[in-house]
Amino acid sequence: MDDLFLRACRREPVDRTPVWFMRQAGRYQPEYRALRERYGILDICRSPELAARVTLLPVEALDVDAAILFSDIMVPVAGMGASLRIEEGRGPAIDRPVRSASDLARLHVLEPEADVPFVTETIRELVKVLDRPLIGFAGAPFTLASYLVEGGPSRDYAATKALMWSEPKTWDRLLSLLAESMLTYLRAQVDAGASAVQLFDSWVGTLSARDYRDRVLPYSRRILEGVAGVPRIHFAVGASHLLESIRDADADVVGLDWRVPLDEAWARLGPGVAVQGNLDPAALLAPWDVLRDAAEDVQARAGGRPGHVFNLGHGVLPATDPDALRRLVDVVRGTGTGAGG
Ligand code: CP3
Repeated sequence: MDDLFLRACRREPVDRTPVWFMRQAGRYQPEYRALRERYGILDICRSPELAARVTLLPVEALDVDAAILFSDIMVPVAGMGASLRIEEGRGPAIDRPVRSASDLARLHVLEPEADVPFVTETIRELVKVLDRPLIGFAGAPFTLASYLVEGGPSRDYAATKALMWSEPKTWDRLLSLLAESMLTYLRAQVDAGASAVQLFDSWVGTLSARDYRDRVLPYSRRILEGVAGVPRIHFAVGASHLLESIRDADADVVGLDWRVPLDEAWARLGPGVAVQGNLDPAALLAPWDVLRDAAEDVQARAGGRPGHVFNLGHGVLPATDPDALRRLVDVVRGTGTGAGG
């Protein structure tokens, strides 16, 4: 597909900067909230008809340059045997956390077509109707392990780090199991028609650079190295101290949060990768001139160089006004590459 977004991922010149948003489908949308009154989030993820419909909502409402599969990073982990709930306003919860080697026996390597057949079915339906790329995704081993070990969201990841340091063999088995499963999962998504993939390591910023490099990066690299033929985006939050390692895990595109200025991050990463980001999602709640200035600052820092995909530094917040996102898309289209900005 000779497409704007894919070209930018490959660092080829484009007429204008492509734009999409993490969590572009979600609670900020009245149409999504209406569906959620009738269905749980996991019901939506597990129904190809509903998941496809929700995936298309932001494409229609915002005319973004890429769609992202509507699902959750923990859906395939449930397919591996974990008992998953998603609690409103809090996030994923696991009933019996993984704390020891014997707990691992409850999990098996994911077989996408058997364990989560609705995912590839959703993708096959979507690519029939979409006129732009569909991004597939998976959670990275550390972030998935953190939910499995903590049993839910965490502030300090103490149980996860304790397992990582005190039971290195169990840690290796857990992260290997997750890496093998997510590699198979992403390959299945690409085979079904996804034209790019994003690996979300949202919570890995809690680690020191040394622990990340020694105890986590090798597993994320197994996944990224194993996915061939499509651009691979690697994203973490609060991980400015890990940027070079995030790149070294074999990404084509490094996702940046808002804490690091885009030009400084790109200078550190070098010219061999594209970057995605990095407007603070909270800026969408600011007065219009503040939002516009912040978006133009991101564009100015990208400097029209090939290889920038405009995005937020993390997901769209539920309090966001859909109109603010629409106007943001217009600003991005009027600045940056090829528009004299
Ligand atoms: O980006 C998209 O539009 C695709 C959909 C998507 C969801 N989750 C749907 C969802 C994606 C890409 C994810 C990934 C995900 N899930 C990540 C990585 C990205 C990130 O935000 O860092 C993480 C860490 C999770 C775990 C998770 N699931 C969290 C933190 C939450 C939010 C808790 C809350 O209620 O605010 C969820 C639930 C979830 N996943 C929602 C959505 C739209 C919330 C909406 C709902 O309950 O209906």
